[in-house]
Amino acid sequence: MQSPTAAAAAASSTPAKSPESPLLRRLPVPLVFLLLIVLSVTFIYRVAAPISPSGRTRQWNRTFPFVLPADDQPDAVDLEKEEVRLAGVLQASAMEDRTVILTTLNAAWASNGTIIDLFLESFRIGNGTRSLLDHLVIIAFDKKAYLRCVAIHHHCFALATEGVDFSVQENFMTDGYLKMMWRRIDFLRIVLEMGYNFIFTDADIMWFRSPLPRFFSDGDFQIACDQFYGDPLDRNNRPNGGFNFVKSNNRTIEFYKFWYSSRLKNPGFHDQDVLNIIKHDPFIDKIGLQMRFLSTRFFGGICQPSRDFNEVCTMHANCCIGLRRKINDLGVMLEDWRSYMALPPALKLSKPLVWRVPQKCSFAPLN
Ligand SMILES: *[C@@H]1O[C@H](CO)[C@@H](O)[C@H](O)[C@H]1NC(C)=O
Ligand SMILES: *[C@@H]1O[C@H](CO)[C@@H](O)[C@H](O)[C@H]1NC(C)=O
Ligand SMILES: *[C@@H]1O[C@H](CO)[C@@H](O)[C@H](O)[C@H]1NC(C)=O
Ligand SMILES: *[C@@H]1O[C@H](CO)[C@@H](O)[C@H](O)[C@H]1NC(C)=O
Repeated sequence: MQSPTAAAAAASSTPAKSPESPLLRRLPVPLVFLLLIVLSVTFIYRVAAPISPSGRTRQWNRTFPFVLPADDQPDAVDLEKEEVRLAGVLQASAMEDRTVILTTLNAAWASNGTIIDLFLESFRIGNGTRSLLDHLVIIAFDKKAYLRCVAIHHHCFALATEGVDFSVQENFMTDGYLKMMWRRIDFLRIVLEMGYNFIFTDADIMWFRSPLPRFFSDGDFQIACDQFYGDPLDRNNRPNGGFNFVKSNNRTIEFYKFWYSSRLKNPGFHDQDVLNIIKHDPFIDKIGLQMRFLSTRFFGGICQPSRDFNEVCTMHANCCIGLRRKINDLGVMLEDWRSYMALPPALKLSKPLVWRVPQKCSFAPLN
C-alpha cells in the first residue's frame, strides 16, 4: 500500500490531472487555516530559496508541498491539495488518539544500507515496536529520499521542491543544514495545528521499546536529553531536539511559533541551541506550557547511554559527527540489542549488559 503522496510524486509531470481526492470534500478547510498556510509557504520559500546550489537554474514546480515560487501567487486550490495530501498521510498513519510518529529523511540518510535501514530494522527487532511502524511517517526532504521511502515504507510525505538540493552531504552543519532543521520546526507546528500529536524522532535513533508508557500524562512538550541531571522539570537538562513528544494544543502551537520566530534573534544557531536559550524564557510559563525532560534511563544515547537493557526504549547516535561513524555505532547498538534479546529471561535480569558504544562515534573532526 502506498501513501497518498506516492500519487503526488507520480503526478510530477502531470500535476493538474490528478483526480480530486474525496478527502478534500470531507475536510472542512477554514479560511484561517489556509491563510496560515499561505503565510508559512511564503516564509518557507524565503528560508529554502538560498539552498539551491549556485549556478544551477531553479526548477520550481508544485509537485512538493509548502514550497512555491515567491513571484507566483499561490492559489487556494494548490494549497488545498497540499493540505489534503498531508491530512491524508496523517490520517492514514495516526493512532486512535491522533498521535503520529514522524521522522525526516534526506538523500544522504536514505541510501540502501544506511541510516534509514538501521532505523526501520530497530523497530523490527525491538520489543513490541514493529506495530509502531504503522504509525510512522517519513518526511522526505528531497526526491531521492522520497523515492526510497515509497520503496520501503507505507507512509511518506515529501516536503521539498525539485531543484532545491537538500541531498548533498557536504551541507551537514552548514547553512543549508540549518535551514532544513528550521524548516522542520515550522512544519511540525503545522502538524500540531492540524490536530495531531506527534513523536518526532531522528532516524539515527534506535527504537527498542515503545516510548508511550514512559511519557508524562501531564506534559505538553517532552524531550529527550543529551545530558539528563535527574529531574524532568529541571530546565538545565540538556535537551536533544532529535526526539520529542508533543501534544496538539494551544500551548504547544504557541510554543512552536515562538521557537521558530526565535531563530531570527539568534541567527546562525541550530533549533536545539535556540531551544536551550528559550527554555528559560518567561514566555514559556506565561503560555503555561508543560515542559518535561525525558530521562536517559529510558531515552539514552551515546552522550549518556541508557544503563539498563531491561528498561531502554531508545538509543540515539548523538554526540557523533559523521555518517560513517554513526552507521558503525548504530550497527553495534543493534548487535548489542540482539545479544540481549537472545539471552534467557533469567540472564536478562541477572547479567548486566553494557552498550559497546561509542566505538567510532565522537566529536572529533572528520578528515
Ligand atoms: C541493499 O543492499 C544489500 C546488500 O548491500 C542488497 O542485498 C540488497 O539487495 C539491496 N537492496 C536494494 C533495494 O537495493
Ligand atoms: C517484551 O514485551 C512483553 C509484553 O509487553 C513483555 O512481557 C516482555 O517481558 C518484554 N520482553 C523484554 C525483553 O523486555
Ligand atoms: C519539475 O521540475 C523538474 C526538474 O527539477 C522538471 O524536470 C519537471 O519538468 C518539472 N515539472 C513541472 C510540472 O514543471
Ligand atoms: C484553543 O483556544 C481556543 C479559544 O481560546 C479554543 O476554542 C480551542 O478549543 C483551543 N484549541 C485547543 C486545541 O485547545
